[in-house]
Amino acid sequence: MNRPKTIYADYQATTPVDPRVYAKMVPYWNESFGNPHSSDHIIGWHAAETVSETASSVAKLIGCDTDEVVFTSGATEANNLALLGLARRAPKSRRRILVSAIEHKCVLASARTLADYEGFGVETIPVDGAGFVDLETLANRIDETVLVVSIMAVNNEIGTIQDIPRISEMVAPHGVLLHCDAAQAPCTVDVSNLATQADLVSLSGHKIYGPQGIGALYIRRDLQDSIEPLIHGGGQQDGLRSGTVPVPLCAGMGAAAELLCAPEAAEERARISRQRDTFIKLLECAPFPTTLNGPTGQLRHAGNVNIQFPGFDAHSLLGALQPRLAASTGSACTSGTPEPSHVLRALGLGSEQADSSIRFSFGRFTTDEEIAEAARLVIQARE
Ligand SMILES: Cc1ncc(COP(=O)(O)O)c(C=O)c1O
Repeated sequence: MNRPKTIYADYQATTPVDPRVYAKMVPYWNESFGNPHSSDHIIGWHAAETVSETASSVAKLIGCDTDEVVFTSGATEANNLALLGLARRAPKSRRRILVSAIEHKCVLASARTLADYEGFGVETIPVDGAGFVDLETLANRIDETVLVVSIMAVNNEIGTIQDIPRISEMVAPHGVLLHCDAAQAPCTVDVSNLATQADLVSLSGHKIYGPQGIGALYIRRDLQDSIEPLIHGGGQQDGLRSGTVPVPLCAGMGAAAELLCAPEAAEERARISRQRDTFIKLLECAPFPTTLNGPTGQLRHAGNVNIQFPGFDAHSLLGALQPRLAASTGSACTSGTPEPSHVLRALGLGSEQADSSIRFSFGRFTTDEEIAEAARLVIQARE
């Protein structure tokens, strides 16, 4: 049976694995299958070499050194390791943690755990109507009692790009650490200096055209003793994250990072942001009202469109679009939970506005034809 092709507009939930990335991974499932921690034979040495090459590709992507990269199962684990790990070795004088109101749930839940069970004070920094962190409030809250500030580089629901260099300058004079969840950043901003601005940076393989199930945490070298591991065992990765490093996934993440360091990455971003703007214009011309959530212009993720369809339930609209168009109501990680998006609520939207909002996200393999067809399908489904 010929099924109509589904247009994929959910790149911020997960990206398809780039065929060049896939090709790099294939040999590690069978030919070069070694355990990178098997130090007594050549098959293990080859695997270890691959892991080290990957670490160096990831390091190049964000501007750090290879030995500052710790592989994890994804950005969720990286964010947990950053916050729980730091807190559990924190000096007694620094018991406050600041997070923005629109952090990913895995950051908010880690911080909440520290507040509920480990005696930390967790404070939420508000954002404005477009999702930018209120820098004045942040400045007023930072002092020598704060351990870490956790602010994401790019939001996964509304695409807001934060001013990480400025935030970095604000925290440093107080000896406060900056953790940056950069899972959504590499596809849309130049992150080549991010490790010079933040002390810890979280990344995810499946948001950058690599495989699911791998991520990384950059930990500034001199901070590595200040992190209590979450996973104990054989002491791999300098004891910071025990467990066998998955070589095929690592090879994929390294290849994905390399592609984002290539000169074509900037052109790709420009092309995707043009497509995003075309899609927004097409919906704005529709014979019914729509309202864009989040920022306009340059400070928005190149592929992100988050838009309200007043009076319509987003889930019903998405259902009506099946099987022709795949988009979502926001963070895939909270889909299935029948509560309005905390990100949209933080912008000041009411629950009805939040419940009528859909996130479309475009990426590397989106074509102009798909943009036109996606807009047509949405307009048809809404009418
Ligand atoms: C900003 C952000 N942080 C963290 C995560 C979690 O990443 P992972 O799926 O790699 O655990 C996501 C996934 O949606 C994300 O968008």
